[in-house]
Amino acid sequence: MGKRFDDKVVLITGAGSGLGQASALQSAKEGAKLSLVDLNEEGLQETKQKVSEVAPEAEVLLVTANVAEEDEVKNYVDKTVEKFGKIDGFFNNAGIEGKQNLTEDFGSEEFNKVVSINLNGVFYGMQYVLKVMKEQGSGSIVNTASVGGIRGVGNQSGYAASKHGVVGLTRNSAIEYGQFGVSINAIAPGAIMTPMVEGSLKQIGGDNWEEVGKQFVEPNPMKRFGKPEEVGYLVAFLLSDESRFINAAVITIDGGQSYKY
Ligand SMILES: NC(=O)c1ccc[n+]([C@@H]2O[C@H](COP(=O)([O-])OP(=O)(O)OC[C@H]3O[C@@H](n4cnc5c(N)ncnc54)[C@H](O)[C@@H]3O)[C@@H](O)[C@H]2O)c1
Repeated sequence: MGKRFDDKVVLITGAGSGLGQASALQSAKEGAKLSLVDLNEEGLQETKQKVSEVAPEAEVLLVTANVAEEDEVKNYVDKTVEKFGKIDGFFNNAGIEGKQNLTEDFGSEEFNKVVSINLNGVFYGMQYVLKVMKEQGSGSIVNTASVGGIRGVGNQSGYAASKHGVVGLTRNSAIEYGQFGVSINAIAPGAIMTPMVEGSLKQIGGDNWEEVGKQFVEPNPMKRFGKPEEVGYLVAFLLSDESRFINAAVITIDGGQSYKY
């Protein structure tokens, strides 16, 4: 039996770390050709190395780009189509958390920075990729929102605004593009142990961050952090043909925590 991503092209932003890297590994294992985008070139090289360990045959294109810059987004989409001729799956995932602070102290500069990456970057990506997918008459997009995009978390003005925005963009475009055979969904991860969450725990707990992490997951029904590969399985499913009729959904992956009273 063939693999789910045989002859499929998967484009991933934020592919140099965490959830993007895990999703790259999962789709490569299942046969995908990969176009991997990140601001961090070393991260991209690391992902490429790990891909070659799990899927030595996989074709991989690396593009260094800042998703907050529209011309760099256009470039990574153009490069992907030049090399592979199409885009079947797009994991529109790059993002930052930003500094944690009360709203009054958050600062407009920090706010604009977080929004320009997490929200503008996701919009630019959809804008250029949807043109390609509409012409193909097929494709799947997964945008990375967050539990912070469907619930109030606190101390995250920029993050909350941008991730709620990602949910809005997802639903709006999903309604537009379903008729063209394109599905668009968002994932809303809770706390998944990636370098981003480690950084966040260090902002709160300093050297004591691991202890802070244990307290942090205490209210979670599963009493633990999620693992990047668990998100990779979900993303691969949503990018595959098996999920074709799932559209405009926002899927939590958080051990159930966001439904807990
Ligand atoms: N880890 C979690 O618990 C969690 C929870 C909810 C949502 N998320 C979201 O998941 C996504 C991935 O996060 P992660 O945990 O894997 O973080 P991470 O920091 O491990 O990886 C993010 C990657 O994005 C890249 N990146 C950052 N800004 C960029 C830019 N302007 N242009 C291009 N690349 C850029 C980074 O270089 C990094 O490689 C983010 O959108 C994040 O908000 C993560």
